[in-house]
Amino acid sequence: MDCNDTLFPSRFLQTCDIPLPSMNVEPFTLVIFGGAGDLSKKKLLPTLFHLYREKELPKNFSVLAFARSKMADEAYRQLMKESVREFGEGSFSEPSWAEFSRHLFYLSGSFEEDRSYEELNKIVERLTVPTSKGDRQLIYYLSVPPQVTPVIVEKLKIHCLCKEPFKTKIIAEKPFGRDRPSAAKLNKVLTDAFDENQIYRIDHYLGKETVQNIIFFRFANSIFEDLWNSHHIDHVQITVAEDLGIERRGAFYEASGVVRDIVQNHLLQLIAMVAMEPPIGFEAEFIRDEKRKVFHSIQPMSDDMIDRFTVRGQYGPAKIDGQDIRGYREEEGIPAGSNTPTFFAARFHVANWRWTGVPFYLRTGKRMSKRVTEIAIQFKQPPLRLFGRTCDVLEPNILLLTIQPDERISLRFGVKYPYSPNQIYTVNMAFGYQETFKTKFQHPYDRLLLDCMKGDLTLFVREDEIEAMWDVVDPIISRWERVPPLQFPNYAAGTWGPQEAHKLLNQEGRQWITG
Ligand SMILES: NC(=O)c1ccc[n+]([C@@H]2O[C@H](COP(=O)([O-])OP(=O)(O)OC[C@H]3O[C@@H](n4cnc5c(N)ncnc54)[C@H](OP(=O)(O)O)[C@@H]3O)[C@@H](O)[C@H]2O)c1
Repeated sequence: MDCNDTLFPSRFLQTCDIPLPSMNVEPFTLVIFGGAGDLSKKKLLPTLFHLYREKELPKNFSVLAFARSKMADEAYRQLMKESVREFGEGSFSEPSWAEFSRHLFYLSGSFEEDRSYEELNKIVERLTVPTSKGDRQLIYYLSVPPQVTPVIVEKLKIHCLCKEPFKTKIIAEKPFGRDRPSAAKLNKVLTDAFDENQIYRIDHYLGKETVQNIIFFRFANSIFEDLWNSHHIDHVQITVAEDLGIERRGAFYEASGVVRDIVQNHLLQLIAMVAMEPPIGFEAEFIRDEKRKVFHSIQPMSDDMIDRFTVRGQYGPAKIDGQDIRGYREEEGIPAGSNTPTFFAARFHVANWRWTGVPFYLRTGKRMSKRVTEIAIQFKQPPLRLFGRTCDVLEPNILLLTIQPDERISLRFGVKYPYSPNQIYTVNMAFGYQETFKTKFQHPYDRLLLDCMKGDLTLFVREDEIEAMWDVVDPIISRWERVPPLQFPNYAAGTWGPQEAHKLLNQEGRQWITG
């Protein structure tokens, strides 16, 4: 079909060759385990309501929240109404809510008790309606603390709720394990009950338009892909910086730390997008195959390399804009002597044909100078300084892919400064998503939930990817845990992290770039 055909008004349906029936959302029943918890209130229900208002959902759908608190359907609808009003980013409307909320149901019970699953079975029998193929689509969302996932999956299996007579899918939230063995164990639990193509492991970074655009940008434009290798690229930098602290997630963060929270998932997925080879097609499996190869190519780090090429940090107190900001150790629920890292920087190597010799510098942290996620590709200098020795401050060409807060791509290059004989001046050529497409910010959960409903696994993480990602970070976590840090806290809130992170690049004649 023609790319400009607009048979459906959907924002997601401007496709070229993808058959339209596969882009439709068939009737479904979504069972949210933990449907009364924080994630459900802040993200899942606001997203579902938003999709409903945007007319992305089919006429026949139902959402069944399953949690411990005792309440009736009506009380649950009221509870979620308040959440959607608060977290729905202005999408709330009373008449739409009245229609939408008729699709919401609540089951009170315990994940450990068989009785609850018997009840669940009866309710889904009643709620599910046939799709155009005659099957009944049942989607499970595990919005629960990770330790209860195994019992839920086991009970679903025992109660014949995993496969026929339903067409089922299961969405698993991060964290996906604490290390390779626990992730493998969790994978085993899931794959004993479901086929891999029924399992949707969420990394919400992959739902961001600009992250998906990395693949389009690279493989739809021959001008950059030809330069995308060690012959032309000096190094790559990836920054995932948050200006906030740990908010009220003290217990969770203390047990996790920065590597498990951000590096094992979001940061490694970003490396894969930048470093992967062209997939042989745009299908989920081809893309996931290429990403997995990148994780396997990341050079394993010995203890000595970890000591030399990684930096850890923890934020201390500071005054920002006249306000006293607490250090990590003063946050609610954090022990006074905690050694949990809130900052990570490292030099990684992707040891394959394309990337050998190109350092990948990574950094991420809480309470940094500003909130920004950015990938900087720095190109090598021209072979000859043609414009005179005194003008040798030649700034490198940098391609900057900004994921958040602005979604943009910019290219820095040198031009002749007007009327000077040989002075070079650096300028920026920029493309902004919002300015060009007049789009509003699209929440990643919108896209991910819809993709799951449609059965598109491209933006979800496969079993072998998860385990390969743990292989990359496990040695670092283990080394850091065995050798306690000497000087925590070692960076003030509101800064770009400890001095050692700057030294990591400076000693190699480079510096961190921010757009
Ligand atoms: N919160 C976020 O912003 C966020 C962001 C990214 C990922 N995640 C992940 O999402 C998952 C859920 O997080 P959350 O913050 O929503 O957790 P939460 O607020 O603790 O909610 C957990 C939910 O599970 C229910 N529950 C727990 N144990 C149960 C049991 N044995 N039987 C029945 N119900 C039980 C609770 O029911 P009651 O409320 O009735 O007790 C509650 O509804 C976690 O894996 C988390 O890491 C959360």
